[in-house]
Amino acid sequence: MMTATKPISSAGGVEVLGIDLSAPPKDAGELVELFDQHGLLLFREQPMTKAVLLAASRMFGEPLVHLLGHNNDREVPEVAVVSTRGRDGDIEAKDPDELVGRIEWHTDQAYTPSPNRATMMWAVELPPEGGETGFVDREKVYEAMPASLRDRIDGLHVVQSWRKAQAEIAKNPNYATDEGAKMLQLDRFPDLSYELVQRHPVTGRKVVHAPPMWSSAIVELPGDEGTALLDEVMAFSLQPHFVYWHRYRPNDVVLWDNWRFMHAASGTKGRYRRLMYRTVLKGGAVMGVPLDPAESEAAEKRYRAAMQSARAEAV
Ligand SMILES: [Fe+2]
Repeated sequence: MMTATKPISSAGGVEVLGIDLSAPPKDAGELVELFDQHGLLLFREQPMTKAVLLAASRMFGEPLVHLLGHNNDREVPEVAVVSTRGRDGDIEAKDPDELVGRIEWHTDQAYTPSPNRATMMWAVELPPEGGETGFVDREKVYEAMPASLRDRIDGLHVVQSWRKAQAEIAKNPNYATDEGAKMLQLDRFPDLSYELVQRHPVTGRKVVHAPPMWSSAIVELPGDEGTALLDEVMAFSLQPHFVYWHRYRPNDVVLWDNWRFMHAASGTKGRYRRLMYRTVLKGGAVMGVPLDPAESEAAEKRYRAAMQSARAEAV
């Protein structure tokens, strides 16, 4: 079998043609190769079910029950419900004209030492405007970087901060309606140190890791110099020619390499419904080290206490 593909943007990614994910090929090797090569695959016109999404995900790795848990599907826990109406479809935005679901550029799970390898999204219900996912190929970013900037960031480490994301989310009042925002308010994850230039564990190619949602400082350069360098790397990474915003059609399925692409959500007006089902696939590579092991333990204790009181409230 030779699977046909066509590019989906000048910033990267390919559409995979002639594949029915509800009757996947016995040998997924070629699809896995395409995934490793391009890092962003689009499958159009894939009417499916949560069970089919889960089975299709298994071609590329081991689906995880997401550690945050707030939007895990009640029947198929490996599938997350990504919805403007909350997991059970009963949450209304406070202001119908304000954005809901806008999420800053990030990679998934960089607040943990071992982020997931990949994320698969199935578009079920789409708003008439907004609701796009943005993608940036951080490998292309590194390739395009001038040697002068590469030299300045080589060997440095970047702080990945859950608290930075909390502070950003608190600025958006419509997020207060979102279960995810409530979950983000938990003081759960300690700051981690990540390499600013990583080697992709599968492809071996270099990738710039400075996702704006989590990246708060450069470990070796505390203070203004580090902040300025981090801002420069982020601004370089988000130049328009690196950015692709995917406008979904119903039954699009998108799979991206979370170790290579960063992504963002444009959000949509609170009045509109948007429903996606998502899986995340296990990584296994250790990329982050706690900056302060004592803080790591304290954070775990705070998280357990917060979860206990959240359960008490739920009952
Ligand atoms: Fe994400």
